[in-house]
Formats: sequence, structure tokens, C-alpha cells
Amino acid sequence: MLKKFLDLGQQPLANSYLRKSQLKKKEKKLKLELLFDDKSYLVSIKNKIPKHQMFNSSYPYRSSQSKTMQISFRKIANEIKRRFNPKLIVEIGSNDGTFLKNFSKNKIIGIEPCKNVAKVTKKKGFVTIDKYWTKSLARSLFKKKKVDLIYSANTLSHIENLNETFTAINIALNKDGILILEGPALLPCLKFNIYDQFYCEHIYVFSTLSLSNILKKYKLEIFDLQNLDTHGGSTRYFIKKKNNNKIKILKAVRREINKEVRFGLKKFSTYKKFSKNIKKSKFKLKKLLKDLQLKNKKVIGYGATAKSCTVLNYCKIGPTLINYFLDTTPDKINKFLPGSKIFIKKYKKLNKKDVDFVFLGAWNFKKEIFKKESLFIKQGGKFITHIPNVKIISDKDMRGRI
Ligand code: TYD
Repeated sequence: MLKKFLDLGQQPLANSYLRKSQLKKKEKKLKLELLFDDKSYLVSIKNKIPKHQMFNSSYPYRSSQSKTMQISFRKIANEIKRRFNPKLIVEIGSNDGTFLKNFSKNKIIGIEPCKNVAKVTKKKGFVTIDKYWTKSLARSLFKKKKVDLIYSANTLSHIENLNETFTAINIALNKDGILILEGPALLPCLKFNIYDQFYCEHIYVFSTLSLSNILKKYKLEIFDLQNLDTHGGSTRYFIKKKNNNKIKILKAVRREINKEVRFGLKKFSTYKKFSKNIKKSKFKLKKLLKDLQLKNKKVIGYGATAKSCTVLNYCKIGPTLINYFLDTTPDKINKFLPGSKIFIKKYKKLNKKDVDFVFLGAWNFKKEIFKKESLFIKQGGKFITHIPNVKIISDKDMRGRI
């Protein structure tokens, strides 16, 4: 049975940054409600937006915009070469090629339905198919020559039709093939109050428990996993076909499932507790920003993320509380965040002369940001975060121990 545990209010499409000319137009909004399935333990959002409205030729997100992700993808690419030595790899959701570029062009095929993003890797000479990952695509591309390894990071949560996705994976993957899936993990979301991991594009946030249940239907199984720091806590799953007995299931998988059960991922009460914490977080963030406004402090945002969209719209924060955001992404600059309509300026190094407090929209990259903004920190500039709790980050915490 599906049980609702949190209502994050009316939300616009998270990556639909607005041009000035669109500011007066009514935005499409949907209620963002979170559901827990007490049979499969899968957590999902209730109202879904058709994929064409989110992933099309004006998709702004670029994974290359953070050093953290570049390093993370380089490391897993090296591990893949060492551990599995695949002859042919497919990446589902290749974005602007941050993972892809670590391989030679004749070894990897990118699948990227957002045509504007697919263009980036096509131009660099990588085979990139600008279509959605479907059974018919898998059949047409891999009827004869099967794939040794499929990699997909931060993409599976975006795909509503899991049946289509896994059936297509089974069509493409050879019998000894490896599937690697990674994305934000549910346990850290609940543990650290990461409610902004939920927005229209993140239809699911998986746990080992829920993913194992889904994989069973497709005769696939997890044989290893790694917990990562990326995106506030992600898990990378190594998956094989069930009838491939050459690969052993490592202890890490059972350990992770036990950890999730101990944390309470099977119990609805855990989700209700999370919901209570989030309501408190909303109140605290609003209060902090209002107090700073009363003290005439200048507050801006850093990283106009999709996550920020959830926070700003849930907490009803607009340009009076956060003046503007800074971002490095070309397709976001000089536009406005959806719903909150806060302006996004081109990134420029922070300086205390311009700003007193900086709200971390990209809190998941805080270490990278603190490094970059050492001058601002030396000048006495402060950062605000809402993860794991709403606070002004102290100097001690800035050394990376939030
Ligand atoms: P990400 O956290 O991956 O976001 P989302 O919630 O949208 O999935 O995106 C990080 C955003 O922050 C992206 O728009 C780029 C921006 N950014 C900067 O502007 N400067 C930086 O130093 C970093 C690390 C990110």
C-alpha cells in the first residue's frame, strides 16, 4: 500500500528556469507529495510530469560544472577498466560527457534524450544517441552486438517506467554483462533531512531494499555496492544477471541491507519522523532569513540547483529574503529560479564587500565551494545551510565537517 508522508506544497518544474519575458506568465505547478510503498519499500513522488516536459532540448543541467563530479566519474571509470575491462560500454543519461570522456570513443555509446546536451558529446566525436532509453532502442542498437557494461549515474530516479528501463537493459546486456547504477540514497536523505532531493525529476529515491526488490523481477541482482559522498550521500550498485554464477555476491550488500533495516527504512514511523523534522526545518530557515533581513544583512544564494527549487517553494522564500543566486551554468545565467523568481547571476568569486551571508543551494558541493571561496571566508563572510539542520556554518565546520 502507498502511504503519503510529506507534502512539499505546490512546486513548479525544477529545471524550468524563467526568462524575464516569462515572469508574468502563469507557471505550471504540481503538488509535491512523497509516498512510501510498505510492500516494496520504494519511495516515490505522487504526481508525475511527462518526461518530454522535463527532458527536452532546453535541459540546463551540466554534470561538468562541479570538480567533485568530474573526479568521482574519473575514479569509477578507472575502476571499471581495471575490474571489468569491458569492450563495449553504454551510458544511460550521458549528459555533457563527464563520465564518457574517460573512455576511448570506440568503446562507449552515450544515451542522452536532451538534444541540446547530447550535442556537446556528439561534437566531441562520441557516439551519442539523443533518444530515451527504451526497449525498441535497445533492440535496434544491440540486436547483434551486446554490451559488456551499462553505467548510469543520477538517471534512474528520473525514469518513471522502470519496467521499460530494466527490460531494455536486459535486451542490451550480454549474459556476463555488468550494470552499474548510482544515485542519491534514501538513508542519508532521511538521516540528514535532505528533503530537497525530492523534486519533479526525482520520481524515486532508492534504497538497497527497494532496488533489490525491483531487480528481482528482471532476474538481476546486486553483487557489490559503494557508498559515496556525492550529492549528499549516494550509493553505487554493481549488478549482474542472476544466472551469472561466475560473480560472487559480496558481504557489503547484506551489510547495507541490515543497516537500512536497523535505521528503520521498512517502517512508516521513520518517514513520519522525517516529515516532522522537515516542517521544523522550514520554520527555522524562514526565521533565520527574516532575522538577517531585519539586521539589513545582504543574503544571496550559491548554486541555483533543482534542489533549491524545492526548498524555496516549500519555504516560500523569494527575492526579498535571498537577493539573487550565483551559478556557473550557462543555461541558467540571467534567468530566474522557477516559482521563487529569484534572479541568477553569472558566478563571480564571493567578496564580503558585496554580500554578508550565502545560502548554499549546492550544499552537496560545500567542500569544493569553501575551497573556492577562501577569500570570502577570510573576510568574515558566512554560509547558511539547511542540511542537516538550519544554521550559519561556523568556521570550524567550514573545514568540511558539517
Ligand atoms: P547539483 O547539486 O548537481 O544539482 P541539482 O540539484 O540541480 O541536481 O548542481 C549544482 C549546481 O550548482 C549547478 O547549477 C552548478 C552550480 N555550481 C556552481 O555554480 N559553482 C560551483 O562551484 C559548484 C560546485 C556548483
